[in-house]
Amino acid sequence: MKGIILAGGHGTRLYPITLTVSKQLMPVYDKPMIYYPISTLMQTGIKEILIISTPEDLPIFEKLLGNGSHIGCNFSYMSQAEPKGLAHAFIVGEKFIGKDSVVLILGDNIFHGSGLKAKLQECKKPDGGIIFAYPVQDPKRYGVVDFDKKGNAISLQEKPKKPKSNYAIPGIYFYDNNVIRIAKKIKPSKRGELEITDINKRLLKKNKLKVKILDRGTAWLDTGTFNSLMQASQFVQAIQERQGLRIGAIEEVALQMGYITKSDYKKLSKPFKKSGYSKKYD
Ligand code: G1P
Repeated sequence: MKGIILAGGHGTRLYPITLTVSKQLMPVYDKPMIYYPISTLMQTGIKEILIISTPEDLPIFEKLLGNGSHIGCNFSYMSQAEPKGLAHAFIVGEKFIGKDSVVLILGDNIFHGSGLKAKLQECKKPDGGIIFAYPVQDPKRYGVVDFDKKGNAISLQEKPKKPKSNYAIPGIYFYDNNVIRIAKKIKPSKRGELEITDINKRLLKKNKLKVKILDRGTAWLDTGTFNSLMQASQFVQAIQERQGLRIGAIEEVALQMGYITKSDYKKLSKPFKKSGYSKKYD
């Protein structure tokens, strides 16, 4: 399975801070935002990752992350000049995906929690698509899924004025290879974007969409506004200081996943001595 991180867009809801810097490079407490989705993919066991961003921002991501070999991964980069929607990522990434299945994660979504790694790893061989549902107070801001009494998903809505449930769809989506074909078929929505929700609606109709609930043991944070960005930073700081465990530290995840050795990790940690970003492993 391959992974795609969508880190494009203009980040207008964070202007002026994102006037000159990509949103996904903003700090979330002690590391750039994109570290979090990268670490989520790595925990899923994915090493081949395509990063899609704007032509202006792409070189900065490359400078930050290189080819990924230092953390046992393989990063590639492709640009998307205009934000054409999440589903467009499968068209941009067609060659990269090849004949594989694919997971798409949004560059501004942060996931953390017990049991999450296992839950994500279970999704690595999708027949159709697998998405998640997460209860939120303000479902209007998101894709929304509604269930029948037996817990089967029955409808999907994108940013509805009148949400049918309070279950939002977080920005991580697993698909088999047919997603490329479906992405090419769907038409742009009113906001001019190829909506991931339209792909999911097609799969639901064909009984090819699984919706898994992320329970209270999982934190899903998005970081698109001043408040949510601040809250995400505070969340990461609180957990890291309390538990001494790190969230989204890609070098540490590489070590835990066995992608690199302890001595590799020590070398990678050297530049971070003064900031204290890297945890010591003896
Ligand atoms: C997108 C999707 C939406 C999903 C959300 C998760 O919204 O369209 O369905 O719930 O990501 O972050 P956007 O970030 O484009 O507003």
